[in-house]
Amino acid sequence: MNLPQVNLEQTTIPELIDYILRRYHEPLPGQVMRIGQQLQLLAARPSEHQANLQLLGKLVRELWAELEPHLLKEERVLFPMIQAVYASLASGRPAMPPPMQLVSGPIRVMKMEHERADEILAALDEATSHYEVSTVTDPGLRALYAELQTLDVELREHIRLENERVFQAMVDLSGAR
Ligand SMILES: [Fe+2]
Ligand SMILES: [Fe+2]
Repeated sequence: MNLPQVNLEQTTIPELIDYILRRYHEPLPGQVMRIGQQLQLLAARPSEHQANLQLLGKLVRELWAELEPHLLKEERVLFPMIQAVYASLASGRPAMPPPMQLVSGPIRVMKMEHERADEILAALDEATSHYEVSTVTDPGLRALYAELQTLDVELREHIRLENERVFQAMVDLSGAR
């Protein structure tokens, strides 16, 4: 992925949304698909890890069932609304749609979905003993753990940027602290 260096502390919220879309939303379906393929390959072979692999597969499916509609709602509904807020402010008009409405409606829902994703990540972290590979000899399983850990790290960064920067900016604009 070729992304220009972005100083996240200094980006505007519309720039940050573009960054989140390119850096986190675009690669996510491919990441989850690769993990699904790794899991399928590993599950097709007899090994002592089958029960754990089944649990990991179940958690990854749950995570994607949560994330797929979540990403679409952000991409098609919420992010365009937030971009519209900044476009109206830039042209000297009152913020439209009103940030308060976004905070009490879609942002509240997105935050609950982030919490659900966080819970599933915590379960993945536990099921892999924090992605610990020092005792794992199977190279396929080591590769799976590495992919899962990347997913975990990136999804947490992604959620944190949305909660603490993008959504918080709407809270600040609405005065609803
Ligand atoms: Fe997102
Ligand atoms: Fe999100």
